[in-house]
Amino acid sequence: MDIENTTPALVLESVVKEHAAGPSRVAAVRDASLHIARGEIVVVCGESGAGKSSLLQVAGCLQSPTRGAVYVDGCDVAGLGVNGSADLRRRRIGFVFQEYNLMSALTARENVALPLELDGVRRADRQAHAALQEVGIADLAGRFPEEMSGGQRQRVAIARALIGPRRLVIADEPTGALDSASSRVVRETLVERARQHGAGVLVGTHDREWLSVADRVLEMSDGVLSHATRGPE
Ligand SMILES: Nc1ncnc2c1ncn2[C@@H]1O[C@H](COP(=O)(O)OP(=O)(O)OP(=O)(O)O)[C@@H](O)[C@H]1O
Ligand SMILES: [Mg+2]
Repeated sequence: MDIENTTPALVLESVVKEHAAGPSRVAAVRDASLHIARGEIVVVCGESGAGKSSLLQVAGCLQSPTRGAVYVDGCDVAGLGVNGSADLRRRRIGFVFQEYNLMSALTARENVALPLELDGVRRADRQAHAALQEVGIADLAGRFPEEMSGGQRQRVAIARALIGPRRLVIADEPTGALDSASSRVVRETLVERARQHGAGVLVGTHDREWLSVADRVLEMSDGVLSHATRGPE
């Protein structure tokens, strides 16, 4: 492996994330440290409210940590500033949101192509079509989000997170809205992204089917991240 390939996809050092809740603060993530190599799949399980989305949002540079450090592909996120961090998110990080976050005025294909088009990549629509094909909904490329089911929207969001040279793919409950056959396609697509393209993959989920594809399973409980006592089944 060359030096570039040994750079971890993600490093979290003693990350604390507090949310303001009225006059008080909620500690959603308490002192979490994590290291994800390229090509590695890490799954974080935990009950509702455990802090999974908060951890993933900090790891995906969507929110700043209250304390601690985040490195994506070797880059210290704190030193990037607003534009640098937006560039990193658009080019290097694929994020699948729990609530999809698609643009309602854009078709499926346009939603998927958007990160590449913002970077001036030519033939973005072709790549978008291929990404939609990977998740099994190429026939819906011309539809708007409101014309699709929840599971179909979810797959558009996954295709958007996979397009381009992603070093880190973060997925928040990516199979929550999917039937078992579509869930399997999504798991296989993310595994392929890790194994063939060398992306680090971080998944937060309740879905125990993910345990079988994980290199490591972590448990989150009341903001504390720890090694799971239950391994893959
Ligand atoms: N924007 C916010 N403002 C205030 N509190 C928040 C905010 N976001 C999350 N929290 C609180 O932080 C804690 C962790 O929430 P988080 O969304 O990270 O959990 P989760 O594990 O993703 O849950 P779920 O499985 O339901 O998605 C919860 O107590 C939640 O109420
Ligand atoms: Mg969540």
